[in-house]
Amino acid sequence: MSQSYEYLEGMARQYAIQAVRYDKEGKFDDAIKNYKKAVEVLRKIISLYPDGGLNNIYKQWVKEYEKRIKDLESMKLAATSQSYIPSNSEDVVNEVIFKEKPGVTFNDIADLVDVKEAIREAIIYPTLRPELFPLGWHRGILLFGPPGCGKTLLAAAVATEIDGVFIHLDAASIMSKWLGEAEKNVAKIFKKARELSQNGKPVIIFIDEVDSLLGMYNSEVGGEVRVRNQFLKEMDGLLDKSFKYFIYVIAATNKPWRLDEAFIRRFQKRIFIPLPNKEARVELLKLYTKGLKLASDVELEKLSEMLEGYTSSDIKDIVMAAHLRTVKELFERHGGSGEPREITVGDFNDVIKSRKPSVSREAVKVYESWYEKFKAV
Ligand SMILES: Nc1ncnc2c1ncn2[C@@H]1O[C@H](COP(=O)(O)OP(=O)(O)OP(=O)(O)O)[C@@H](O)[C@H]1O
Ligand SMILES: [Mg+2]
Repeated sequence: MSQSYEYLEGMARQYAIQAVRYDKEGKFDDAIKNYKKAVEVLRKIISLYPDGGLNNIYKQWVKEYEKRIKDLESMKLAATSQSYIPSNSEDVVNEVIFKEKPGVTFNDIADLVDVKEAIREAIIYPTLRPELFPLGWHRGILLFGPPGCGKTLLAAAVATEIDGVFIHLDAASIMSKWLGEAEKNVAKIFKKARELSQNGKPVIIFIDEVDSLLGMYNSEVGGEVRVRNQFLKEMDGLLDKSFKYFIYVIAATNKPWRLDEAFIRRFQKRIFIPLPNKEARVELLKLYTKGLKLASDVELEKLSEMLEGYTSSDIKDIVMAAHLRTVKELFERHGGSGEPREITVGDFNDVIKSRKPSVSREAVKVYESWYEKFKAV
């Protein structure tokens, strides 16, 4: 994403944080002014970058702020002064603990064999034989890499594969829900994790889109700085050798360069989730065409060569689009009865022609150079 996207994001946050602060202090006019500016900037982000990853969250913020503006305006009319009560309770902690496993397993993830193994080892071995780790063991695992290559999917699978408790924090929505209260809640989450880990099973705290919680903002006012410091403190607590519980923090980001070095240092394992290579692409194609009828002219090996530079998620979309062509034809030519025809190489060619990889070559290079600088596997 371009500089200005990040700049706008930073600006929206600033306004939002100011607004909440004024709101709490009962300075409603200033609060309204800042909420309005935040809404304006968020709308701009959404319209300038329709494919921005956090747009859904931003839309939610816009809604929340607009509601708050309305409430404040009507409150002013009624001349009452009711101060802001954040929607923030003990429940937030319980809300983020997965009660049900998400149902994704390592088998649903193509390739990334080493990554699966590394995660398994890092979490399972110390849990089984802690005495073999007199120097302690790694508690922080950072997954980074281009969008759409399986970071979130991997974490979901960890929840299923590892017999333990899985706490899922979406950093961006934490900031939305807990604006101004976020650092207290970070502390609460870790406290809860310590309680839960006393039964000897691992507790995994997964923080998705971690950059939006801990990114480098030059803000003085920003809640992010306090959140980040709280987080670093909690991580240090886990790293303390005398701390014998099995709490792991897995964080994922597609903007690793937004993390500062103090933060990076706490994640002793840093794993690059790259674009799929040729073999991985074959695996992905196998995975996603499993239930589909392919014509005999479709060779997955050859297809995989054409898909160099595409992300795993792109490949899934391409298979879907190729399949949808046959379904569409079934409806248009046969009124929707019978079965769709087989998917041909022509279908794939047409679909591939009409879509570019979602990550540019230059962007891939940036990930690789960040990896060279900070690698720790
Ligand atoms: N290795 C993989 N095997 C199978 N499917 C995959 C794989 N990687 C990605 N996908 C598909 O792409 C989708 C998006 O992947 P995921 O959400 O894990 O990406 P991500 O790396 O977290 O991206 P972002 O950085 O944008 O959050 C998945 O839901 C899945 O359908
Ligand atoms: Mg993700």
